[in-house]
Amino acid sequence: MQERRGQSWWEPMTISRYYDKTALEAQVQAGRHREAVGGLWDEIGQLQIDFLVSQGLMPHHRLLDIGCGSLRGGVKLIRYLDAGHYAGVDLHESLINAGYEINSRRRG
Ligand SMILES: C[S@@+](CC[C@H](N)C(=O)[O-])C[C@H]1O[C@@H](n2cnc3c(N)ncnc32)[C@H](O)[C@@H]1O
Repeated sequence: MQERRGQSWWEPMTISRYYDKTALEAQVQAGRHREAVGGLWDEIGQLQIDFLVSQGLMPHHRLLDIGCGSLRGGVKLIRYLDAGHYAGVDLHESLINAGYEINSRRRG
């Protein structure tokens, strides 16, 4: 198993880190909203949409993304789905806001 700083590679992805609201919000404030959800932004975002499309997701379908974070998959899914067919919820409003605002600016 791959090790990083003495921890198992999957440790940074465990759910418990999302309950340290102060640490997470500090990371978001520092502009690190992509790292806050685990990094590998393009790879994991693409993996999510590729998997869902391979399972039959079509643009006219509606998708509820529970734990959408800063929209790593959401950015691609919003583009793929018909307008208004994507909804995301997350424990941390700041993550959604950072993803929404920054990704909107990059698009514009
Ligand atoms: C590994 S991140 C993945 C985020 C996003 N799905 C992505 O692929 O980038 C897990 C997300 O689940 C959220 N989360 C954890 N527990 C949750 C809960 N009980 N309800 C809603 N969201 C939760 C976290 O805040 C975090 O944004």
